[in-house]
Amino acid sequence: MRIGVDYYPEQCGRSLWESDADLMQQTGVEVVRLAEFAWCRLEPQEGCFDFGWLDDIIGILTERGIGIVLCTPTNCPPLWFYEKYPEAVQTEKDGHKTRTGIRGHRCINNTDFLRYAERIIDVMTKRYADNASIIAWQIDNELEANFCFCETCIGKYRRWLKDKYTTLEAVNVAYGNAMWSGEYSSWEQIQPPFGSYPDPWLNPSYMLDYNRYASDSVTEHINWQAELIRRRFPHTPVTTNVWFCRNMPNFYDEFRGLDFISYDNYPTTKLPDNSEECYSHAFHLDLMRGVKRSKFWIMEQLSGGLGCWAPMGRTPSPGMIKGYSLQSFAHGADTVVHFRWRNAAGGAEMHWHGLIDHSNVPGRRFAEFAELCKETKTLKAVRDTEIYSDVAILYSPEDEYAFKIQPQTNGMYYLEQPMLLHSAFTKHGLNVDVIHQCEELSGYKIVVAPEMYLTNETAVKRLYEFAENGGTVILTDRSGVKDKFNKCIMQQLPTVYRSLIGAYIEEYDPIGYDNAAIRLSDGSVYKCRQWCDIIQPETAETVATYDSEFYKGKAAITRNRYGSGTVYYIGTVCEKSLYNRLVKDILVNTGIPYVDGLPDNVEITTRTGDGIEARFIFNNTNKEQRFMLDGGEVCLAPFEMKTDIKEG
Ligand code: GAL
Repeated sequence: MRIGVDYYPEQCGRSLWESDADLMQQTGVEVVRLAEFAWCRLEPQEGCFDFGWLDDIIGILTERGIGIVLCTPTNCPPLWFYEKYPEAVQTEKDGHKTRTGIRGHRCINNTDFLRYAERIIDVMTKRYADNASIIAWQIDNELEANFCFCETCIGKYRRWLKDKYTTLEAVNVAYGNAMWSGEYSSWEQIQPPFGSYPDPWLNPSYMLDYNRYASDSVTEHINWQAELIRRRFPHTPVTTNVWFCRNMPNFYDEFRGLDFISYDNYPTTKLPDNSEECYSHAFHLDLMRGVKRSKFWIMEQLSGGLGCWAPMGRTPSPGMIKGYSLQSFAHGADTVVHFRWRNAAGGAEMHWHGLIDHSNVPGRRFAEFAELCKETKTLKAVRDTEIYSDVAILYSPEDEYAFKIQPQTNGMYYLEQPMLLHSAFTKHGLNVDVIHQCEELSGYKIVVAPEMYLTNETAVKRLYEFAENGGTVILTDRSGVKDKFNKCIMQQLPTVYRSLIGAYIEEYDPIGYDNAAIRLSDGSVYKCRQWCDIIQPETAETVATYDSEFYKGKAAITRNRYGSGTVYYIGTVCEKSLYNRLVKDILVNTGIPYVDGLPDNVEITTRTGDGIEARFIFNNTNKEQRFMLDGGEVCLAPFEMKTDIKEG
């Protein structure tokens, strides 16, 4: 396990570099990321390169035994470049060029940009080819799906469609374009979604495909950069850093050609007031581990209060800096790099807080970071361990896009049910994998398949086989609704899953922000919201019925035997306590060992390796927590992580 920092020598005076590096070394920093925004300092004028300063800082860090993650600086080409090639600036949905002076505004398909990007990457990789301190490369910074609307990108998008469908007839059929006279009769009529996006008046099939294209476009660019880097760094791992942004690329495609996942982790510093609200950082960490089903890095980790494009947010309360980093290790990270070493004095991000404030006096947050570095050294033995889970939650980036394109009802969003179910399993002290919905399922005992909205044949087949062979499946509302083109399937819901759940949906009621009620057989009543599937069981038995609305008494949750397995169907979005109760029943029925009585938001995960087991117990709340575990009382301060390592 390693701790690192994101460092911007080009943004602070040279006089600070040595003392900064000394402090890094004394504190236990082992990795520094450099240069993702530094192009104007590396090539101040066209073709005139200045790598002296970068050599200097790399040398200073190397002398202190610190490894370097070097970044391609392609996020921000210098202004001289845009002056010469104004067409290389991204085009917005309204046809205007993005304002320069903001970052990330280059069009990644523009041929002039690509030529200059290739040259700077070539010069950089050549210069450092023999430098053993470069332990990894990062491509660009937080690349989003490519929503550029310039002529070059429009041409690429049309070619992408031609490659996928060959004929316009096939596009028209796939999208159902007979609706509102939308049939294309020439490729030139196909435009990207100018204007607001997603736009409720545009065809959802077309919008989903545009999203797929936008993701493929950025993936192609990433693979192109990776190839350039590997020409001179064939054995050095290459990554790019991601977050859950608005124009999210498909992470599974994006990382297929890269060596490891890097995730930018900024857990909230202001905890939600409503206990129903999910703030499952753990869920996102598990999702990131699942993308390549392997250990990952945090390339940017919370270090101070947020505040650049928005008013400043709460400063991390005591325990958060250390606790959230250790939480990342507990969920499978092996390196956590903190953003950023110190606050910037200038620029739009001057109020985004790093580890050291503008005063330049290391304070409370830095002291906690230093403790983190110390504790991380004690975890070295855990580095080669893995997380094994009996439970998997299926996730699909395409379903997430499709839900964003057509929010199903007020307040409903794709990740809510997966996160509620994830926290119900976490509450019972279990490791949980979050994996792509088409992954192989053997080896798991329980598979949660929430909102299987767009129908994917591989995922359907795997779920049937999994249940047939004795697995337990939890399926939810909004499953089997669409075909792969995002068109509705004209069959009784949940269409392809009907025999699996042994029931069908007679009718549904999208109740949005209203509440309804459901009753279990023991008479207990819970609230439910957003969506109510009125279920007609066929072979299934009823687990819960509605206790309000005109469908009072009709099935809301069912259980079916399928092959030697069991399939639950949850037709509504329940309150948290009901998920906890259902999950506990399922764990009892499947015989999976669990921990009883953990307080809400106390998380236990286990990493296992050759002769070693490390158990992480994390208090993800701002209150002290006391509870019984293995016959003894555990007491955890706010955001405290306890680590039990058993070797031999
Ligand atoms: C990240 C980004 C960083 C910095 C940080 C805080 O999303 O990669 O460069 O901007 O947010 O603002």
